[in-house]
Amino acid sequence: MEAVCVENLVKIYHGGIRAVDGVSFAIDEREIFGFLGPNGAGKSTTIKCIVGLLRPTNGTIRILGVDVGKDPGVAKRSIGYAAQETAVDDHLTGWENLYLQGRFYHLSQEEIRKRGEEVLRLFGLWERRNDLAQTYSGGMLKRLDIACALIHRPRILFLDEPTLGLDVQTRTAIWEYIRKLREEHGMTIFLTTHYMEEADELCDRVAIIDQGKILALDKPGALKAALGGDLITLKFVSTDERLPALLSAIQALPGVRNLRSSPDGIHWIWVEQRGDRLIPELVQLALAHGIQVDSVRLKRPTLDDVYLHYTGREIREAEVSREEHVRARILQRRVRR
Ligand SMILES: Nc1ncnc2c1ncn2[C@@H]1O[C@H](COP(=O)(O)OP(=O)(O)O)[C@@H](O)[C@H]1O
Ligand SMILES: [Mg+2]
Repeated sequence: MEAVCVENLVKIYHGGIRAVDGVSFAIDEREIFGFLGPNGAGKSTTIKCIVGLLRPTNGTIRILGVDVGKDPGVAKRSIGYAAQETAVDDHLTGWENLYLQGRFYHLSQEEIRKRGEEVLRLFGLWERRNDLAQTYSGGMLKRLDIACALIHRPRILFLDEPTLGLDVQTRTAIWEYIRKLREEHGMTIFLTTHYMEEADELCDRVAIIDQGKILALDKPGALKAALGGDLITLKFVSTDERLPALLSAIQALPGVRNLRSSPDGIHWIWVEQRGDRLIPELVQLALAHGIQVDSVRLKRPTLDDVYLHYTGREIREAEVSREEHVRARILQRRVRR
């Protein structure tokens, strides 16, 4: 069964802003699925519609086969949600935050004790459970926030920008925790991000979203492969009149799409698919022509290139930094208070 199924979701805010403009996708159980897009793309709005915090203008949402519009209760019990801004209370300890969350879900004391320990250990916070949240680092706050979203053992977890504004090390640590949720608990995870590496490293499939529309949806590898193959950069030790013959021979190799040479002796070779398989052949061909290879470099298309291809621009860094800045300030204030 599909964990989440969204069909033609539309959300128009008061004032006519079309934040989500006919989005459809399905997430399999145990999948880590990502929405990648810049600030204002409609990621948070989509998540809020799915978890039932916003009423969609149009479209259907099914969670584990149940239509959310018709039966919101069933869906709500199966999902956990950690918002873009953490909902942790600074004046409470980690344990108290978790306890409160458990009570919201009407769990018994015993259940909270058991599951609370489980999630705090899972997220590496057990030792710090009795410290006030205001003494936690940004990464710990985010982990506590996610832990709180897990207290009722949801089958599907929604994470809105789980690593926004965190440093790279803390970010990779959070990725590990997210992977663990899937591996050890079979959880389905939907996350939003505007970090390329996050989508690339963590997600089984990625939807590229911009201006309320999904522009592409596939495995990160497939998205990159669809752009075309690799780029090989070649330099020779010394060249002479034998070079033109070599270049023609390279161009005639199966799998070579295009070849361009710079005046200072750098040759770029675009290949159909996997450049690594072609490299030994290139080197042998050069040797057969009596020319030695000085250097070979292979570059795979990155998700950056994919994003650029579909949106016609890079993720708007200026806006991203502003958002990150605000978030960093919120975290700092938390820590200082
Ligand atoms: N409560 C709101 N009322 C009106 N417009 C909103 C509201 N929330 C978000 N928007 C607008 O909807 C669009 C999508 O926002 P959002 O879903 O937050 O994007 P993202 O999470 O991808 O940054 C943006 O243009 C944003 O300004
Ligand atoms: Mg958002």
